[in-house]
Amino acid sequence: MSADIIDGKAFAEGLRARIAEAVPTFVSAKGRKPGLAVVLVGEDPASQVYVRSKGKATVAAGMESFEHKLPDTTTQEELIALVERLNADECVDGILVQLPLPKGVDDKAVIAAIDPAKDVDGFHIANAGKLAVGEEALVPCTPLGCLMLLKDRLGDLSGLDAVVVGRSNIVGKPMAQLLLQENCTVTVAHSRTRDLPGAVRRADIVVAAVGRPEMIRGDWLKPGATVIDVGINRIPAKEAGKTRLVGDVEFASARDVAGAITPVPGGVGPMTIAVLLRNTLVAAHARAG
Ligand code: GUN
Repeated sequence: MSADIIDGKAFAEGLRARIAEAVPTFVSAKGRKPGLAVVLVGEDPASQVYVRSKGKATVAAGMESFEHKLPDTTTQEELIALVERLNADECVDGILVQLPLPKGVDDKAVIAAIDPAKDVDGFHIANAGKLAVGEEALVPCTPLGCLMLLKDRLGDLSGLDAVVVGRSNIVGKPMAQLLLQENCTVTVAHSRTRDLPGAVRRADIVVAAVGRPEMIRGDWLKPGATVIDVGINRIPAKEAGKTRLVGDVEFASARDVAGAITPVPGGVGPMTIAVLLRNTLVAAHARAG
């Protein structure tokens, strides 16, 4: 059996097109565009690429993009002062502070300073708490994107066994909450899990978010399982000096066993920005009433 490939890139393009279609309704009702402020501190090359793509996608969706680039010498107080200005700015509906932050800046303190109503990353404790108790919340973009792909593929998820490999605040924990809300039986596995292959083998849904290249192998999977690979790992390629991107799942062996699988790249990655735009539009409507 060869698994169906879940085309996250195509799904994300569709979602972005639907958002772009919905933006003019907001603009005519409110007399302004929804606005997303993205803050980048320092020179991390990967972060620079992400921030540039977020800005471009925001403008392409018909929204306003406010980019704030600060030197890596920026202090926590200066960064929080900027966040507070953005909180007070009526034209800003969403605030995203790109992580990781430079050493010496406490990301928890910075996230806590963001107005929860503008927290389009869904990282603020108020939003994490609302998600945990099943109240309407701004939900982290990557896990929400994974859930959209799963529902598109499987429809009703009720009663399915799901394993989330990884327990980060950004992906693993919110992913588990979302799957629980969909009535899945959820296992959260991590580096200390005793029998990881056993946990994976029971699952109809596998979400891999550990950040370890090709760790989850095809022979761990239940035949027909739906596999969502959140990992983006750069490893040396066969040709000297070159690198290639791989997920947390060993794609070649997994595609022989899984029913469906997201590729890396082109699976979950493009969903994150599309959901960020969705969260910005949701926040804009909620703020504007
Ligand atoms: N760095 C890597 N992924 C993310 C994300 O989703 N949001 C933010 N703010 N920073 C990130």
